Amino acid sequence: MQRVFSGIQPSGIPHLGNYLGAIRNWVALQDGHDCLFCLVDLHAITVWQDPAALRAQTRAQAAVLIASGIDPGRHILFNQSAVSAHARLAWIFNCVSRLGWLGRMTQFKDKTGQDREAASAGLYVYPNLMAADILAYHATRVPVGDDQRQHLEFARDIAQKFNHDYAVDFFPEIEALIPTGAARVMSLRDGSRKMSKSDTSEQSRITMTDDADTIALKIRRAKTDAETLPREATGLEGRLEARNLVEIYAALTGSSLEQVLEAHGGSGFGAFKPALSEVVVNAVSPIADETRRLLADPEHLDHVLRDGAMRAQALAEPIVTEAERIVGFLK
Ligand code: TYM
Repeated sequence: MQRVFSGIQPSGIPHLGNYLGAIRNWVALQDGHDCLFCLVDLHAITVWQDPAALRAQTRAQAAVLIASGIDPGRHILFNQSAVSAHARLAWIFNCVSRLGWLGRMTQFKDKTGQDREAASAGLYVYPNLMAADILAYHATRVPVGDDQRQHLEFARDIAQKFNHDYAVDFFPEIEALIPTGAARVMSLRDGSRKMSKSDTSEQSRITMTDDADTIALKIRRAKTDAETLPREATGLEGRLEARNLVEIYAALTGSSLEQVLEAHGGSGFGAFKPALSEVVVNAVSPIADETRRLLADPEHLDHVLRDGAMRAQALAEPIVTEAERIVGFLK
């Protein structure tokens, strides 16, 4: 069976973008794969995190993932810092990848903007750690949203360069699994920016713990234009916010953009937004309710994560030890 690995940063509560771009796919891949799902706290601290908030968000994310349908009994759910193999392999990859490669990473540029000098060194080498996450398990399939595409190409390059430099066939090829619809859910306040945990505006995202009233309010306030919805997908060109809402609707109802526009083309947002709210509430509410139930027993969640970390460690240890041997470390 092929091994699946994916991760999410516990830098906030998962939102609808995380759900549609990644989590929903993770749940589906559980049949037919051995899966590891990782709360990447080492990645999270590449930008400042309040320690108490980081702990709480790590638990909350575990709860959202289980509430969404991740089965930590059959698969592995754990937090990254609990398995030291990630950091050990990341160090080797810091020495395999090239500054030139890292300099081309768009995510680093997006996150730092003009203030590059003030960014942490960790943020710069972030893609090396991400490659280590995947390759420490010889995972071959990685379900992610569209924004992670470049990072996965980078991970493939690292695997190839390691194999080439040390003349081995040790790390496998990685395949990115990116959904066809809603692979990049955009902010509700600005259709040119992706929905993000770190956006300062709560109104920009629907989190997987929002209640029905909050969801309805956020959608009512979502930025749109003054026109009605077009009858064909080409009519969404240049209408970023309208397109985003139609894409969310399509992804959650399992329909194509064309099907949604056949049903709703000609409607104004006054009519479309309540219909969209209903679809979002139907998807999010059961997950939010189950998350709250799980969060009432934090000790159980901690136990699930500790158990996952032990099983992850057992898989990664021999692989990373072998990588260290290949490099020439005395073992
Ligand atoms: P993170 O925490 O930003 O996001 C987790 C997953 O959600 C997807 N995603 C989105 N999909 C659609 N629309 C959006 N607006 C949106 N925002 C986020 C992301 O593509 C991702 O799949 N670097 C990763 C975490 C990571 C990882 C890994 C992933 C660390 N190591 C190894 C895969 C394999 C990240 O920051 O995800």
